[in-house]
Amino acid sequence: MAHVIAVTNQKGGVGKTTTAINLGAALAEMGHYTLLGDLDPQGGLSLGLGLAAHDLDLTIYNILTDSRIPVAGITHHIRPHLDLLPSNIDLAVAEFQLIAQMGREYILREALQGVRHTYEYIVLDCPPSLNLLTVNALTAADSIIVPLQVEYFAMRGLEQLMDVFSRVRRRLNPSLEILGIVPTMVDVRRTNDQQILQEVTQAYPGLILDVYIKESIKFADAPRHQRSILELDPKHDGARGYRKLAKLVLQHYGEWSEIQERQEQAYLNLPTELDEALQASLTEPDETLQAPPTEPDEAPQASPIEPSLELSANALTDKSMPPDISLAHSNNGSSITPPPPATIAIPPLSSEYPASDFS
Ligand SMILES: Nc1ncnc2c1ncn2[C@@H]1O[C@H](COP(=O)(O)OP(=O)(O)OP(=O)(O)O)[C@@H](O)[C@H]1O
Ligand SMILES: [Mg+2]
Repeated sequence: MAHVIAVTNQKGGVGKTTTAINLGAALAEMGHYTLLGDLDPQGGLSLGLGLAAHDLDLTIYNILTDSRIPVAGITHHIRPHLDLLPSNIDLAVAEFQLIAQMGREYILREALQGVRHTYEYIVLDCPPSLNLLTVNALTAADSIIVPLQVEYFAMRGLEQLMDVFSRVRRRLNPSLEILGIVPTMVDVRRTNDQQILQEVTQAYPGLILDVYIKESIKFADAPRHQRSILELDPKHDGARGYRKLAKLVLQHYGEWSEIQERQEQAYLNLPTELDEALQASLTEPDETLQAPPTEPDEAPQASPIEPSLELSANALTDKSMPPDISLAHSNNGSSITPPPPATIAIPPLSSEYPASDFS
């Protein structure tokens, strides 16, 4: 049964989408079947992982506005162990349509019931406001992760968010909990950052997670390359930060094992040559995504990735698919036609792109 985690903060540009992408990528890298849900009409999460969501006819909007459409029919299998529920600008009008509906705060929760047995984790990227879409995410979630950009007004936004959290807990979702606050874009050399971290820790004791994400230009580069930072530069401090966050999530749910601890240690001690080999392998086109080789002057061609719905026949043999995905699909007796194959074009990394760490 999936644990549903909403990544939320009504403040814009604090690292919600970056956190959702990289937490999802880290959980998937550790072998946990994960679904990323994009609840932002800007579609940043979908685009950041290479899914051209603006061209899609079926997105999370359709799930929220038409109860006959199953979540499994909209998901796209984008990486081993990682599926994506995309969104695009269509979602911007969903809020107005939802207002008139009965039980409007529970629509996403009910829709996700159909796939909760398919995944181990469902990570929802919330929009930068406390609107009905965010309330739907909080009502569907078991816990929230709050990315917090360490800056002067950070605390003010947090108070508002905690107020909404309490109201959702009281009226809609009594079991909702705060998994933790993740400081983002931190530069510990700045005394201001240290002060704010201290203030937040004092104001919300026990809620600040034992990890922070350093400020780095690579976070802006990763979505440009349509990759998570773990794929772009596995050794980068940012990649390590999000792996640590995934570890804390697993520990929170009692799913961090001794084997994983040993794997993590082995990874940390990986000899340099191996690291370089790993990085070099990233410059090869990703076979999973069937990314075509690109000519220098040619726009990357779209390569078809089958949506999860169409992969059900392979589900029992393909280790990168959730084990019960075929069941999840066959269980919902919907008459909706499956969406056309998703198109996704992940350009191979340029060999000019430096693999060096950035701090
Ligand atoms: N640790 C970081 N260091 C430097 N830049 C970062 C970091 N994390 C995210 N960014 C950059 O900050 C910008 C905002 O990040 P992101 O889109 O994840 O925030 P958001 O909270 O989802 O924004 P919105 O509220 O608009 O949805 C992006 O350009 C992203 O690349
Ligand atoms: Mg965002």
